[in-house]
Amino acid sequence: METFRSLAQMKEWSRAQITRGETIGFVPTMGYLHEGHLGLMRRARSENSRVIASIFVNPTQFGRNEDFGSYPRDPESDSLKCRQAEVDVLFMPETQDVYNHEFQTYVDVERVSKPLCGKSRPGHFRGVATVVLKLFNMVYPSSAYFGAKDYQQLQVIRSMVKDLNLDVRIVSCPTLREDDGLAMSSRNSYLAPAERAQAVCLFQALQISGELFRNGEKEPMKYIEAMSGRIIREPDADPDYISLVHPETLEDLNVVDESCLAVLAVRIGKTRLIDNMLFEGRA
Ligand code: PAF
Repeated sequence: METFRSLAQMKEWSRAQITRGETIGFVPTMGYLHEGHLGLMRRARSENSRVIASIFVNPTQFGRNEDFGSYPRDPESDSLKCRQAEVDVLFMPETQDVYNHEFQTYVDVERVSKPLCGKSRPGHFRGVATVVLKLFNMVYPSSAYFGAKDYQQLQVIRSMVKDLNLDVRIVSCPTLREDDGLAMSSRNSYLAPAERAQAVCLFQALQISGELFRNGEKEPMKYIEAMSGRIIREPDADPDYISLVHPETLEDLNVVDESCLAVLAVRIGKTRLIDNMLFEGRA
């Protein structure tokens, strides 16, 4: 595995691969890799002749009072994990190379960035879309792989790719979960043992929604009340949002018909966790 920090080196390597007719699968990450990331890398490995993973903790997607400074970092262990996942190139650009000091150009995916996490984290998706486009312009991927846990992020990236006519196939990979159902996330490392035990409430709330969906429930408020009821049983859980939305537009539903996305963000102590489940196929 090669490791590049230089943008020029990364571009040169990718251009040479494309000239030879190779396909490039790309897994962008912010590091502190877990099994969820490694699953994306394995999927990329199985579908492409070359695999690039990036590690870049992107400052523009963090709000002023968020955890940019304390975001967990472990580049040595990450590098080993990428090697084991048979990644060809690990790309770890420097912040000052990604954002020059006169930087002033951002990508704003308007509608789908607004609800849910967009409300509580203003500017977050502008930062995500901007860095993902920048990384695409350094890596030249044929396909890029993202986890479905960050469902809204996926929708933002899909819209950007469509609206800006980018030639990148976006691949959504299922959320990987711990044994008790907690969605894997680098931020789970912030949880103290007592908080970790409570964090399973997100998954269990989503499962309750699944049951309502399968039983034919049409009233969104019934889902929201049932999910809230499960969340607030935990002493350290503080919901940011608990919603039932259209899987594409992410707008609130008035009635649940053939499909819906149950989605929630909950603070467990100081750690903000997100999760979602897509329900579809009801007559
Ligand atoms: O999902 C993430 O880890 C980040 O939001 C991403 C896509 C790597 C952009 O910084």
